[in-house]
Amino acid sequence: MAVDIAIDTGTSLTRIFLPHKGVVLCEPSVIAVRSEDNRMVAVGAEAYEMLGRTPPTIRAVYPLKGGVISDCDLAETMLSAMLGKVVSPKIRMPRAAVCVPTAITDVEKRAVVSAVIHAGMRQVCLIESPVAAAMGAGLDIRESHGSLVVDIGGGTTDMAVISLNGIAVSRSLQQAGDAMDEAIIKYVRRKHDLLIGRRTAENAKKQIGCVTEGVRSGTFCVKGSSLSTGLPDSVVLKAEEMPEPLAETALTIVSGICELLEETPPELIGDIYTDGIMLTGGGALVAGLDKLISDATDLRVHIAESPSACAVCGCGQSLSYLNRLETSRPQIHPFKN
Ligand SMILES: Nc1ncnc2c1ncn2[C@@H]1O[C@H](COP(=O)(O)OP(=O)(O)OP(=O)(O)O)[C@@H](O)[C@H]1O
Ligand SMILES: [Mg+2]
Repeated sequence: MAVDIAIDTGTSLTRIFLPHKGVVLCEPSVIAVRSEDNRMVAVGAEAYEMLGRTPPTIRAVYPLKGGVISDCDLAETMLSAMLGKVVSPKIRMPRAAVCVPTAITDVEKRAVVSAVIHAGMRQVCLIESPVAAAMGAGLDIRESHGSLVVDIGGGTTDMAVISLNGIAVSRSLQQAGDAMDEAIIKYVRRKHDLLIGRRTAENAKKQIGCVTEGVRSGTFCVKGSSLSTGLPDSVVLKAEEMPEPLAETALTIVSGICELLEETPPELIGDIYTDGIMLTGGGALVAGLDKLISDATDLRVHIAESPSACAVCGCGQSLSYLNRLETSRPQIHPFKN
């Protein structure tokens, strides 16, 4: 049996979509390998649990950075292992639609195509993340009507004005969820004299993260090592203090959106004025970000349903018309072997 497949190898999460089944896998883009020979020890959720906790004989890493592959061998191994979890070896996978950032270079594109081909696919079709996310968010991108989609992921914020199946203007920032996690780590070190890990920072962001005051309440206890004593210690963070570390990344995203709007042709701006902005990607869930964007642009801002699954679901939708895409869409880079 042959099945086309959609893949989103996100910086934070890898998702796989199968026709008639939907999203069949959503796991952290992490692989753990033996340091001496790079043999895989664990992948996905299991490898994520090992982050920051491995002995020197094991490395647990994210093989993608800023939305693109930073370690080809590990990315290939990770993808093959994840496909193996959800697709039986008896099933042939002739074609894959894969999301990539808009600012991806040709070299980076080749790395994605190579990883997917090595993972068992015969042909690969690359789709820019905002285009895929727009489809996944339920927007009809075939019309001659402008839609502004901002996909806030882990490594990148990828935004585009889309009309007639194509990108009119786009912008890609290397500031998204991961930058917020880093900012929390630095803030806790500076303000509370405590060194915490990346997973702890991400959990804090999800539990109490907000970019403006008054949109969230609550506390979250973070554990780590005291910088003054070197001993284990903990601090209770309050939601009210979260805007301090998170505002910088949020404001960079807001500035990027304003700059993109300035570059957008007037007819398309008129459409966006009517419809507002669609936010997708897991980063869209940071409390207060939608309001911050809305206040700065004077536009309505919508958060898509299941924002982080939009890109892979949109890629999945594109599977049904892959053959037509081959000739009709310049933004999609079809079938390279
Ligand atoms: N409830 C939440 N609150 C705040 N942030 C969240 C929440 N859920 C997920 N995130 C953040 O969203 C980011 C992941 O989003 P997403 O899965 O869309 O990224 P990705 O596709 O893996 O990355 P990229 O598109 O940059 O390659 C992470 O930084 C994660 O911490
Ligand atoms: Mg993404």
